[in-house]
Amino acid sequence: MQKPSPEAEYAFHDLKPDTLAMAAEVLAGLRSTPKHISPKYFYDAEGSALFEQITDLPEYYLTRTEMALFDAHLPAIAQLLPKQLCVVEYGSGSSLKIRKLLESLTPRAYVPVDISAEHLEHNAKTLHADFPQIAVYPVGADFTQPFELPRAVADLTKLAFFPGSSIGNFDPQDAAAFLRNVRHTIGAEGALLIGVDRKKSVDVLEQAYDDAAGVTARFNLNVLAHFNESLAADFNLAAFEHVARYNKDAGCIQMFLRSGVDQQVTIAGERVTLQANEEVHTENSYKYHPEEFLDLAGGAGFTEVSRWSDARDWFTLYLLN
Ligand code: TRP
Repeated sequence: MQKPSPEAEYAFHDLKPDTLAMAAEVLAGLRSTPKHISPKYFYDAEGSALFEQITDLPEYYLTRTEMALFDAHLPAIAQLLPKQLCVVEYGSGSSLKIRKLLESLTPRAYVPVDISAEHLEHNAKTLHADFPQIAVYPVGADFTQPFELPRAVADLTKLAFFPGSSIGNFDPQDAAAFLRNVRHTIGAEGALLIGVDRKKSVDVLEQAYDDAAGVTARFNLNVLAHFNESLAADFNLAAFEHVARYNKDAGCIQMFLRSGVDQQVTIAGERVTLQANEEVHTENSYKYHPEEFLDLAGGAGFTEVSRWSDARDWFTLYLLN
């Protein structure tokens, strides 16, 4: 009997239905013109860890600027809100931000809404242990779609919380649709506390998304590593370059992965061709002047209660109702 040759390989590619749907979506994006990848694939374990590092970068002013606004103004914000409050957090994100908010507002209930059930449960349980006087009702849902709040919070005034300029990661049309959904979810009595990054010098903006240490580049490139692992793809990360540039007409930072060479990539058994210098679009981050943002929010039925900005006018926190 012949021995198997040592280089013969055995590999089980378990293409579960979820994986097949993901492969189909990724392939469709990489076969369209221009090529694109959905930013939702950034956040595997490595991507989430890299994003945490981004928020600490000297060039990435957003997180620390918003945090300083919370520190300075949460007492005033608390004064503007009723006492029987339910905080609805869109995304169960930075536990530091939500902790500051819960400490200042002492709401009756907290409803974090997140598509990743695992992430959500872990954060919600930790917060409930640390704030035992606040009822915690996590909702596993895709908050870009309408969803129901738990019955238990029906009689409380809702405060929707959407920090981090995450609104900027929607196209303006989707941002408008999202804000209309928020308006519907929190009702006419509800309010929205939202952090929004502003238009400013192109250099400042581009450096925030292309830092000297290369962390944002690693974050962007990691989406390809994620595909290599979960879609049996064979992206050579060294053959791609991170690109972040401000699109003045659209008013947004755009991120791309630029192919350095003509190359072919296999994803779940299917081949995709990339040309040298071809760019794959991965993310947008829209920046809003206050008038622009209030206009967008106004279209969704929100009016300004108050707003707070840093001394450089780089970032604004809005309370709307
Ligand atoms: N919403 C934030 C921003 O636009 C955070 C963010 C989302 C981000 N996706 C990103 C930051 C990609 C860097 C790269 O800045």
